[in-house]
Amino acid sequence: MSNQNNQILKNTNAQILDEFNASIMFDKELYAQDIRGSIAHSQMLAQQGILTSEEQKAIETGLLQVKKEIESGEFKFSLAYEDIHMAVETRLTEIIGEPGKRLHTARSRNDQVATDFRLYVQDKSLSIKEQLKELIETFVNVASKYTTTLIPGMTHLQHAQPLNFGFHLLAYANMFKRDYERFESSYDRNNYCPLGSAALAGTPHNIDRFSSSEKLGFISPTLHAMDTVSDRDFALEILFNISTTMMHISRISEELILWSSYEFQFVRMSDEYATTSSIMPQKKNPDVPELLRGKTGRVYGNLISLLTVMKGLPLAYNKDTQEDKEGVFDSVKTVEISISILNEVIKTMIVNVEKMEQASKIGHLTATDLADYLVQKQNMPFRTAYYITKDVVSLANTLNKDISELNIDEIRKANDELKNISDEIVMYLDLRNSMNARNSFGGTSTIQTENQIKYFEEWLKK
Ligand code: ARG
Repeated sequence: MSNQNNQILKNTNAQILDEFNASIMFDKELYAQDIRGSIAHSQMLAQQGILTSEEQKAIETGLLQVKKEIESGEFKFSLAYEDIHMAVETRLTEIIGEPGKRLHTARSRNDQVATDFRLYVQDKSLSIKEQLKELIETFVNVASKYTTTLIPGMTHLQHAQPLNFGFHLLAYANMFKRDYERFESSYDRNNYCPLGSAALAGTPHNIDRFSSSEKLGFISPTLHAMDTVSDRDFALEILFNISTTMMHISRISEELILWSSYEFQFVRMSDEYATTSSIMPQKKNPDVPELLRGKTGRVYGNLISLLTVMKGLPLAYNKDTQEDKEGVFDSVKTVEISISILNEVIKTMIVNVEKMEQASKIGHLTATDLADYLVQKQNMPFRTAYYITKDVVSLANTLNKDISELNIDEIRKANDELKNISDEIVMYLDLRNSMNARNSFGGTSTIQTENQIKYFEEWLKK
């Protein structure tokens, strides 16, 4: 091979390796946190007499200019700088000269990246929490309109007992409230500042970690330098929180898909969220909830990826950890867009009250009420009541009626034990009465549902 060819090959290899090694093409997402962290670090260095106040001022002004250049699109991101930390520092030094070279005193990229990434995760935990709050508010508002609308409650996707639709929707308000609380508690747990841990062992410079921590809005510095530079639990936590939120989004999406099908027709989604088929002009496909359901997969993948990256890493920092970011960025973007789209879908869906009520008359939803009545009023053992109720259901099937539609004579004929039953039983078999009879705390009755709405309205105010 000629020398020239050899050189070309070497250059190509070097370029491939640069690309392989670099994170700049994705960690530029962290530019704002990187600059925030550097400003706090420089201020602390000046307070400690490690930088002069002139040097610090020059650094701060320079960093703000770099920020401006990035935000205006002027900034040239290049593989030559490997990551956002080197890119910002290099540009800073181009702008302000000598003082720029002093910024990296008493820190390492290891604590720098841990700080930037943690700031990002903390920022996003707060904003996702706020989005969840809006989503909960939507569920509560829509629920409050349907606290007397009957819908068949299901177990095993089989008609079970009558509910009101507001109660059904509030199940999701509860799920998203738990999600909200998960983001809140992981925010609190991780609200400690890595800066000053340096490469892995701390630094001989006379720094004040409490001061930089405070400037960045953390509670206090982390306790252990080596643990800190290798810890990515905070990233795993947000990935888990997002996964759980997406799992809940996926479940309501699945219900929306079912409910908007021809078989259910409980809801109609606004045309923006359902598209027509390219070959079957009569169709309206629930693409948006299907995508919400589908995107849950990649978010789970991101969680499993990072768990796998972290497993078996020796202390302390290892380059493997650079693989922590893209999945988190992707999950954050996915959950942000998913929450805001779901919010609109729920706000704009058209509820078909009639279809829900019709469907409630299928499947003998009040059969349990008959059994409960026999137990409560006639002191019958539950198993006996269960078999007698089965006879009533068979009779209703023969008559092609729902159990809630039987008259007292029909009920009395269904089983010998019922021949003298009081005619009040008809009232007990009524669907709306049955729903309202479930008045235990957390139950489906309109009263309990409205209490829960009040609870959420208070909670939303905090
Ligand atoms: N780009 C690196 C990352 O994302 C920054 C830390 C690099 N530190 C090092 N010692 N190579 O993790």
